[in-house]
Amino acid sequence: MALSNSPEESTSAEVPAPYGTGPSGTSVPSSDMARRPGGRIRTHHLQQAKDNGQRFAMLTAYEQYTAEIFDQAGIEVLLVGDSASNNVFGNETSLPVTVDELLPLCRAVSRAAKRALVVADLPFGSYEVSAQQAVATGVRFLKEGLAHAVKIEVGSFYTETVRAMVHAGIPVMAHIGFTPQSEHALGGYRVQGRGDDAQRLIQDAAALADAGAFCVLLEMVPAQTAAAVDAAVSVPTIGIGAGNATTGQVLVWPDMAGLRGGKMAKFVKQYADLRTTLSDAAKVYGQEVRSGQFPGPEHTF
Ligand code: KIV
Repeated sequence: MALSNSPEESTSAEVPAPYGTGPSGTSVPSSDMARRPGGRIRTHHLQQAKDNGQRFAMLTAYEQYTAEIFDQAGIEVLLVGDSASNNVFGNETSLPVTVDELLPLCRAVSRAAKRALVVADLPFGSYEVSAQQAVATGVRFLKEGLAHAVKIEVGSFYTETVRAMVHAGIPVMAHIGFTPQSEHALGGYRVQGRGDDAQRLIQDAAALADAGAFCVLLEMVPAQTAAAVDAAVSVPTIGIGAGNATTGQVLVWPDMAGLRGGKMAKFVKQYADLRTTLSDAAKVYGQEVRSGQFPGPEHTF
């Protein structure tokens, strides 16, 4: 099963490596997108993945090296998340980060990612006032941030906003469930869509997809609710703490790679321990400088 290429994309035959093979050579499930070399991943490829029963992966990225590494590792979508607020700028929540702070990060990620679809988060306060404000901010992220799409944290009351953005040529990913920008309104980090509330999420997702959102992201939602949302909408879904039935998954990269210290949410799986690796490297470097071992003759002109 192959995803069709847009005209500018490579028509080379599929190659199995380097993507689709686990560290020990074990086969891991991967979409045709991940195995196909060359060619920009577009929103329609994510739709094809859903249509073909395939899955794709999204990670956050905030600067060029991680963007390049994740892009070359075959991650299909890079999110310049407003989680940069906590993970780059040292804030406690995502609320303080601004458009002017996120735009340069987005530009760096977009320049570094040769294949991945780059999605920019619109930060708190940059799209809620009106559809016009949302269009204007979205345009800035596509024009100045070089993003390919934007994400907004919304409910069904934002359908007109989504419609206006899509009409303006801005692909929109709709983030529902737990929406961190509404942390204070929601009373903290709480699972959304439990029990009767599941119906609200299903209706929101359907309304937003109907308004033109190309994808629905579900955060901290019971797996059963996420599965019901995925079944109710034709567009792809992406989950974070939303079980295994969504079309894609997303994790915040410093969490999944073990760079951030502290307590992790239940839904985070850590695939590396970069914090220890970097700390060990810094300690050895410091010791070698203090002892005069570095720089050695091989590092000296
Ligand atoms: O900003 C972010 O990292 C996000 C993810 C939690 C999906 O929105």
